[in-house]
Amino acid sequence: MSDARVLRGPLLSFNDDPGEDDTPAAGSVLHIEDGALWLENGRIRAVGAYAEIAAQLPAGIAHVDYSDKLMMPGFIDSHVHYVQLDIMASYGRQLLDWLNEYTFPEECRFAERAHADNVAEAFLDETLRVGTTTAQVFCTSHPGSVDSFFTAARRRGLRMLAGKVLMDRHAPQALTDTALGGVDDSERLIADWHGKDRLSYSLTPRFAPTSSRAQLDAVGGVLRNAPDVYLQAHISENRGEVDWVAELFPEARDYLDVYERHGLVGPRSTFAHGIHLSMDERRRLAAAGANVAFCPTSNLYLGSGLFDRHACREAGLAVSLASDVGAGTDLSGFATLKAAYQVGQLLAQPLTAWQGFYRLTLGNARALHLDEHIGRFREGAEADLVALDPRATPLLSRRTARTETLAERLFALMILGDDRAVHATWANGRCVHRRGA
Ligand code: GUN
Ligand code: ZN
Repeated sequence: MSDARVLRGPLLSFNDDPGEDDTPAAGSVLHIEDGALWLENGRIRAVGAYAEIAAQLPAGIAHVDYSDKLMMPGFIDSHVHYVQLDIMASYGRQLLDWLNEYTFPEECRFAERAHADNVAEAFLDETLRVGTTTAQVFCTSHPGSVDSFFTAARRRGLRMLAGKVLMDRHAPQALTDTALGGVDDSERLIADWHGKDRLSYSLTPRFAPTSSRAQLDAVGGVLRNAPDVYLQAHISENRGEVDWVAELFPEARDYLDVYERHGLVGPRSTFAHGIHLSMDERRRLAAAGANVAFCPTSNLYLGSGLFDRHACREAGLAVSLASDVGAGTDLSGFATLKAAYQVGQLLAQPLTAWQGFYRLTLGNARALHLDEHIGRFREGAEADLVALDPRATPLLSRRTARTETLAERLFALMILGDDRAVHATWANGRCVHRRGA
């Protein structure tokens, strides 16, 4: 039996960066009021005005009515820790104390496969509930935590990136690997999971302070031999962290140089935070084609600082958007956009809804080199999408009733939206979450 479907209703997708102006750059937005997505075999077979698509449809194809919704490509989260789901909302610390008091003890629990399986499923339930269909995910240093995550993601047909944390010092013994043992485990995981169905492997040295030079070197070696593998790490999140890195690596001229020396900075590298980077570091990251993940709810929560988006734009550095749960306070892309807007207000860098939703979809897909597969409604793309409900709550409904333009409706969603505004989430051509179901 064919799994083909037609989803009919308003749709919005970006063809390109809309820019920072109130009016999106010409040609950057695809918005169709009575639109249609024809899905088949996990992909978008056709997209366009319903009247045009209808003429080509086979008789009897199933229709889904989203006429009072707004369809968008599935949201993407470029940096999140699935293993920190249960320590969200732990009180009162900045980064280094937060790691020692809450994070490391929690991550020790993932030595047990049954625990990892349980949290992986709960995490994916939650990400789909908030409309996130792809994420780049930190597991723990236990290889089994990666097996749990990828097993769960594969069964649901999701496009996901993940990796085992590499960490051979400055952490509890129960969590540390060794320079070469950690890399051997990573190579085994790459062989088992990278490129299987929709999964990709991301090498995951936690951050400079928890890896020896020997470990960073070995990771660089793997990356050189497997250029299509990803890399994720943290950088320049907290002033205490930056000072510590300078002490630990006196030979490096700055934080980024530690990663550069070991061959970790390339086009598939994502560095989370980057709040305290210099202009020179931003330019070097840009030249390498790397991206920094802006994690506004996390940055506010840990008191790390205000991310300078415009400085990144000036340096030509790609910025992706991320939740960074468990330091992040919300998995929802709406919450990330709201916090990004608030950070922007404090820096006189207001974030338009156009720019925000572009970042959450095609922008993040481009930053992760996944835009040939996801991030945009286009013939042949993978069918990952959300059907948003602009009248999901009494308040949203009142606010939406007052709007006159699409820009206003999108902005109201970005500030007032939460999981209730996600009516349905589709991945790989199948409905994987329906609100209230
Ligand atoms: N830096 C090193 N590890 C972590 C982590 O788990 N979360 C955050 N926010 N920053 C980090
Ligand atoms: Zn993080």
